[in-house]
Amino acid sequence: MSRDRYPHEDPVVVTCGLPYANGDLHIGHLRSLVSADILNRAFGLIGQPSIAVSGSDMHGAPVALNAEQEGVSPGEFAHGWHDRFQELFPEFGIEFDNYGHTDDETNTALTTDIVERLIEADHVYEREIEIAWDAIEEQALPDRYVEGTCPYCGADARGDECDEGCGRHLEPGEIQDPVSAVTGNPAEYRTREHKFFRVSAFADVLTAFLDDLEGTANARNQPRQWIEEGLQDWCITRDLDWGIPYPGDENLVLYVWVDAPIEYISSTIQYAERVGHDPIDWTAPWSGDGDIVHVIGRDIIQHHTVFWPAMLDAAGYALPRAVCAHGFITIDGEGLSTSRNRAIWAQEYLDEGFETDPLRYYLTTTGGLQQDIDFSWEKFADRVNGELVGTLGNFLYRSLLFAHRNYGGTPDAKVSAEVADRIDEAVADFEEAVNEYNVRAIGMTAVELSRFGNEYIQRNEPWRLVDDEPEAAAGVIRDCVQLAKAIALLGSATMPDVSARVWWELGESTDLTEASLDAVHEPPASSFGAPTEQFEQLEDELVGDLTASLTAQIEASVDEGSDERVAFSTFDSLDLRIGEIRSAEPVEEADNLLVLDVDIGDEVRQIVAGLRGHYAVEELPGTRVVVLTNLEPKTVFGVESDGMVLAAGDDPDLLTTLGNSEPGAAVR
Ligand code: MSP
Ligand code: ZN
Repeated sequence: MSRDRYPHEDPVVVTCGLPYANGDLHIGHLRSLVSADILNRAFGLIGQPSIAVSGSDMHGAPVALNAEQEGVSPGEFAHGWHDRFQELFPEFGIEFDNYGHTDDETNTALTTDIVERLIEADHVYEREIEIAWDAIEEQALPDRYVEGTCPYCGADARGDECDEGCGRHLEPGEIQDPVSAVTGNPAEYRTREHKFFRVSAFADVLTAFLDDLEGTANARNQPRQWIEEGLQDWCITRDLDWGIPYPGDENLVLYVWVDAPIEYISSTIQYAERVGHDPIDWTAPWSGDGDIVHVIGRDIIQHHTVFWPAMLDAAGYALPRAVCAHGFITIDGEGLSTSRNRAIWAQEYLDEGFETDPLRYYLTTTGGLQQDIDFSWEKFADRVNGELVGTLGNFLYRSLLFAHRNYGGTPDAKVSAEVADRIDEAVADFEEAVNEYNVRAIGMTAVELSRFGNEYIQRNEPWRLVDDEPEAAAGVIRDCVQLAKAIALLGSATMPDVSARVWWELGESTDLTEASLDAVHEPPASSFGAPTEQFEQLEDELVGDLTASLTAQIEASVDEGSDERVAFSTFDSLDLRIGEIRSAEPVEEADNLLVLDVDIGDEVRQIVAGLRGHYAVEELPGTRVVVLTNLEPKTVFGVESDGMVLAAGDDPDLLTTLGNSEPGAAVR
């Protein structure tokens, strides 16, 4: 890692937090993706060699759980989303030099190698821990498979993260009041052997790392506090059959957060293999010759500033120079929620027929990188109509139209010192913004330069000079054309599509993505055609419609949401009937299960129930119970179970009838 100011000669690798390949992308993900893309493009503009890499995060409970709910294999499920993401990126101008995934050969081999290094260096040990367990399904409940209460702040949490409260990573066994996310069954704790990475031994390494770390302040301050509170070792294995096997124990897979960041290195390697190592060795930053810049959301700071650098250090890799942790996107002041459909989905945005540059601009310049940004169609329209249509678009259109009509292109005149200086100032601001990883300032330079342009043209009134003082008029327009060119260059990191169009309309024949800011003073072509308007005004009526349909979308999902009221039709779809237990026997190998034969009127069903130990087997025959008869059948411990017997509470208390309802009677 160098501490040299950008641009320097060594390569920079910009990474973007890997999206989980488990569902559609929304504007929250886009904030990470677009911010990383902007930084990478901005590095290029100031002459800093850089690449952007990322990949799909395919492993772990987030993917396995959603795949299970869809009834497909996790691999097939993840690949479907991976393909989908790659179709979406170009639509949003997101250009990765390499976009891989965590389940590919490169990452599997590299992860295995890194974990073996940790083991050899004696950084890994085994410990018996309590993990959440679904006794009815007889399965472990790792990470998102279990829900409950955060032991630190009391908020509702997922098994491995307090996602709605304090944001902490939770270790297996920490969550309180655990409930299975799949079945809703209260989970028990069982003892299992797991592998731990000795993160606690890295406190000094991490403290030194944080002292040097660049990027946003939250990425230094939060981990400092965690280190002060005392670092815990980190459980790096899971009982799951989807993931990279733990080297040396095929029954365990690595925790998804082990192999996910390693994909940053794997993706870099894949790029280097494709383009070769000459003249630049793109993998060099991982061994200290060059810089690593991570772009992530603030929810995953702990993974990138504690676990990941400890792992890198232990395995002999260089540590990142910067962690840029952006704030969250909220919608109308409330947190985005995919389960409640409180989101603007990437595809939905495209379906409205909108261009994507305005959204890139909004998501990255509405607040500083570290700040949360609120989205509403109204706020979006305000900035599009004010800054993009009113300032940037207006300046480009009026000045280039004037130039085309009166001079057929760039007038034959010299750029004034005032304008040349103002352009230099904008370039200096831009370079400073890149050095501070200030994504917002990167996007604002072009808009601020066009604000100056509008003021300049207003002040000099070329339309009044054309007839009487033609030279002065040509001078003003010459200035404006140069400003337009500088705006296209400076704006191209944040708004690549619009900038490329302006570039082309200015008669430039080179590829803007290959250009550098050195070109800001080069004269544009002497002739060019009529410009087009670059941004579309968002009319009040459309904004009203969009707002109404977003509200409707959220309300519709609340109606369906499991923790809200259900429609009567939902209740009505359950076929509940009275049954009479005919016989009961223990299920071998399962110490809490009984297999029952239950008469439900027109047939006798075999049903497995978690009643063993709560009722004597001989006591049950003859008991009338309530049965959910239209539940999907499933096999539990090799025994088919066709229906469910209802009971109340954790110590199951069988529901029965007060009167004499016969087996088969419907329960309403
Ligand atoms: N797979 C992990 C990251 C592994 S990195 C080695 C993950 N995936 S994610 O799909 O949940 O998030 C991907 C990126 O989007 C992360 O940088 C995350 O912070 C960001 N965001 C997801 N939801 C977000 C918002 N609502 N707002 C802003 N950014 C958010 O985490
Ligand atoms: Zn918490």
